[in-house]
Order: sequence, then structure tokens, then C-alpha cells
Amino acid sequence: MKQDWKPGTLIYPLPAAMISCGSTGEEYNIITLSWLGTICTNPPMCYISLRPERHSYGIIKKNMEFVINITTQELAYATDWCGVKSGKDFNKFADMGLTAGKASVVQAPIIEESPFYVH
Ligand SMILES: Cc1cc2nc3c(=O)[nH]c(=O)nc-3n(C[C@H](O)[C@H](O)[C@H](O)COP(=O)(O)O)c2cc1C
Repeated sequence: MKQDWKPGTLIYPLPAAMISCGSTGEEYNIITLSWLGTICTNPPMCYISLRPERHSYGIIKKNMEFVINITTQELAYATDWCGVKSGKDFNKFADMGLTAGKASVVQAPIIEESPFYVH
């Protein structure tokens, strides 16, 4: 039977992606997010929804740049780990053995191990 729930945000399932941010090596960080999506194709605009208490929030707010890295089966462990540990306490690139690469447009790093990214 169809259920009528009060208004809410229960849109599931949602895929997770790894968002990389930061403008210098010391600042580079990765956060796993599910709340992200498309606003417009022309001009191309994407959104991410980040809680202010996330370490990544201040970095992205300051630089106004980030990269959405698509995950793979091989990246499953790192995707989960980057979603439960904070860049306040860990260097997520180093601890997960991930490579920070140069994006073509933004200062924020790409994750080389991800096959595809959006910035
Ligand atoms: C699958 C998954 C999805 C998540 N989605 C979001 C999200 O959309 N927004 C958010 O603020 N946190 C989300 N989180 C939680 C953050 O990834 C988590 O708090 C992370 O440790 C914050 O890292 P940071 O402190 O280095 O920024 C998600 C975690 C997981 C595992």
C-alpha cells in the first residue's frame, strides 16, 4: 500500500562520490558525499550539500572550488574511509595511498585513481 509521509528529504538510494578540495598540498582534503547533483547542463552547474561542521566546508568556502571524483569498486574502501574520518585529523590522500593530480581549470586537486571527474 502507498504510504503518505510528511515532507522530508528521503531520496534514496544515492550514489556516493569523493570530493577533493584545497589549494595547496597542506590543505588538500577528500570528503565523501551523497548529497550532490546537477543544477543545469548549459551552463554546466553542479551542487554539493555540505554540513558546516565538516572540515572540508571551510576549505571549499574559502576557495569556492572542488572536484567531484566518481568512485569505482577499487575505491570502495577509500570512499567509505573518507566519509568517516576528518581531514582535521588525517591526511586522506596519504593515508589512502591516493594521488593528488592537477585539474585543468581549478586549483583543487583531482584524484588520479578515479576514472572521471567534474569540476
Ligand atoms: C556514503 C556517505 C555519504 C555522505 N554524504 C554526506 C553529505 O552529502 N554531506 C555531508 O555534509 N556529509 C556527508 N557524509 C559525511 C562526511 O563524509 C564525513 O563527515 C567526513 O568525515 C567529513 O570529512 P572532513 O571533516 O574531512 O570534511 C557522508 C558520508 C558517507 C560515508
